[in-house]
Parts: sequence; structure tokens; C-alpha cells
Amino acid sequence: MNFSIALAPGDGIGPEVVEQAVKVLDATGDKTGHIFNYVELEVGGCAIDSTGEPLPPETLEFVKQCDALLLGAVGGPKWETLPGRLRPERALLGLRAGLGAFANLRPVRLLPQLRTACPIKDEILVKSNADHKPEFDILIVRELTGGLYFGEHGRSADGKIAFDTEKYSWLEIERVLRMGYDAAMGRSKKLCIVDKSNVLESSRLWREVASVVSKDYPAVETNFLYVDNAAMQLIRDPGQFDVIVTSNLFGDILSDEASVLTGSIGMLPSASLGAATNRGRRMGIYEPIHGSAPDIAGKDLANPLGTILSAAMMLYYSFGLEKEASLIESAVGATLDSGLRTADIASASGLTVSEKIVGASAMGDAVVRAIENRL
Ligand code: IPM
Ligand code: MG
Repeated sequence: MNFSIALAPGDGIGPEVVEQAVKVLDATGDKTGHIFNYVELEVGGCAIDSTGEPLPPETLEFVKQCDALLLGAVGGPKWETLPGRLRPERALLGLRAGLGAFANLRPVRLLPQLRTACPIKDEILVKSNADHKPEFDILIVRELTGGLYFGEHGRSADGKIAFDTEKYSWLEIERVLRMGYDAAMGRSKKLCIVDKSNVLESSRLWREVASVVSKDYPAVETNFLYVDNAAMQLIRDPGQFDVIVTSNLFGDILSDEASVLTGSIGMLPSASLGAATNRGRRMGIYEPIHGSAPDIAGKDLANPLGTILSAAMMLYYSFGLEKEASLIESAVGATLDSGLRTADIASASGLTVSEKIVGASAMGDAVVRAIENRL
């Protein structure tokens, strides 16, 4: 089949990591008989430089015609002093809202090959695991188009008071909760809602909606945690979690925290999804959760695996290509098995004998070779 993919490499290390994911997609297409057509677009700081706007309206309209969007990262020191509405990050918010991508899926998995890059002791990792393996597999579902990011923001006339509003509607909460429950049904059937309902009225609405929606999923065990406790539990006993559903800001923070458990934020992919369309395809935004890392940009030092795994999520969620997505995931596993590591995922205690540090493009090439060599 043919698929059209909008590419928005963005700023900093974005172009380097997207380039690797495109190589991997092409190798997957060659192997499995699919054709991926790309259109490259400017969003973020690079778009500000060439058009004065982080997300020109015609760019958003163009993306809507495509089957999916693969994004690198946006932002950097060059644009840091611009006013809020002109910052590169506005492009992300505009794309998320404009494409109706209300649920952000961030899988947090410890690959066995990266056990030594995870800073948590074995005794802690085995705590909640029935089979006593030092592993965990969490899916963070972050609400993406509401809450503090999209509530009313402002300043008083003298500029000395500022505010941002956490506002959620029943509908916004219900649709992201259903996305979480549907995911939980295909996993360990545990769902944890993270909020701050001891303080926030919006969190109390989350609990009210959950008490209704959970009735449609009797097979799923639902529990609730306050966000401060959840932040602690993630480190204290990550194995207790299956699916976590939470608000926009809490999800942003908890997913960065959780990424450390996997060895590096460079490993984490994400899919931002809206409702399925009647064409049977689901538009989605696929991006690593890391930022533009300007300090290492252009040096071929970045970890492209988060973006490569995001491309696998694209095949799975937007194109329904389950086998092809697994092909990419297993090629990433084989590449790590061979000992290749970008600097961020080298063993915390120093290189082990079998590890070799490589750059982004060598890592991308190795994943391509692993795909070519798969039966
Ligand atoms: C993320 C990022 C963005 C967010 C920033 C860059 C606006 O941190 O995707 O997690 O806060 O959503
Ligand atoms: Mg973030």
C-alpha cells in the first residue's frame, strides 16, 4: 500500500533523528512491499526563521491531507526570548489541537538489553513482578489538547500577576479515559488515574467521569493516585503500573521522570492520536518525547531510537501495519543485542566489554541492516 507521511524534522537534533527514522521506514517498506511518500515541512524555530511563524496555517492544512506526521523536535536558545505565542513550542500545540490529537501514548518499557543503563536496583524492579524479572512495561496516556496548556492564560494590567487555567470538560476527560481503558484491555488490565483531587476541582471531575466510564470496563482494575505520590511510586516500584491516564501537565512531567527508568529519554517514542476517521486510518503525530537538545545538535551524537520506535508506532496506529511495526521493534532489539549504544544508553557504570558507542547515523544504519537481515 501507499502512505503519505508529513515529515517535520524541526530544530536541533530533530533533523538527525528523523533522517534515521526515514531510512528505517524505507527499509521496512522495501522488505514488506509498502511505499511511504514523504513531504518535508518546516515547523518550530526553522519555520519562524523562514516565515515569521512557528506553524504557518497552510502547513497545518497540508498535514491534514497526509496519513500521519513524523516530528523531530522543536525549540532552541535562538528563539527563547520570543513572546509565548511566537515560540517554536507553539507549533506543537497548534498541531496537536489542529489535528485533534487528544491522547498522547507514551510507552515506557525497560528493554532487557538496557538493564544496566537503568538506575534502579534489581530488588526494586522485581518487587511487583509475578515472575521476578527486573522489568516493567508502562503505558502513559497523557491528555494532550486540554488542561493548563490550553486554558486561559494572562497577565494583569501591570504585568505583575500571571495566570494559567486548568480547565477540563466531561467530554475531554471521557474520550482520553476511554483511550486508556481500550489500551488496558489489550494489556494487563490495570488502569491508574493520576490527579490532584485533594486540591483541584478539575481533578474531582476526572474522578467523577472515571466512576462512570469504568463501569463499561469491568475487567479493568481502576485505581487513583495523587500526582505527588505517583511520582514517588514510579521510582519506588515501577512494576506496579500498567496503564496510567493523566492530564496534560502531569503527563508531561511523569513521562520525563519515567523515561529515566528505561535508561534514557532518548529511547521513548510517542503517538498522539485523535478519533479514528471513517477512512479507517487514524491521523496521528509521532515523535520522540525528548527535546531538540541544542548542545549536541549537528554532532551525530543523538539517540535516534525514540524516533525510530515512534515510526513503528505510526505503522501500528495510523496504518494498521502490525507486523511491520514489530519488524522495526525487533530490529531495534537486535541492534541493541549486538552491543551498539549511543552515548546516552551506555551502561551507567561505564562501558561493558560488549558495548560499542556509535553516533545517530551508524545506529540508524544498524537498524536498517537488522531489518534487511530479518526473515
Ligand atoms: C513534550 C514537550 C512539549 C510539551 C513542549 C516542547 C511544549 O515537553 O512533548 O513532552 O510540554 O508538551
Ligand atoms: Mg515534555
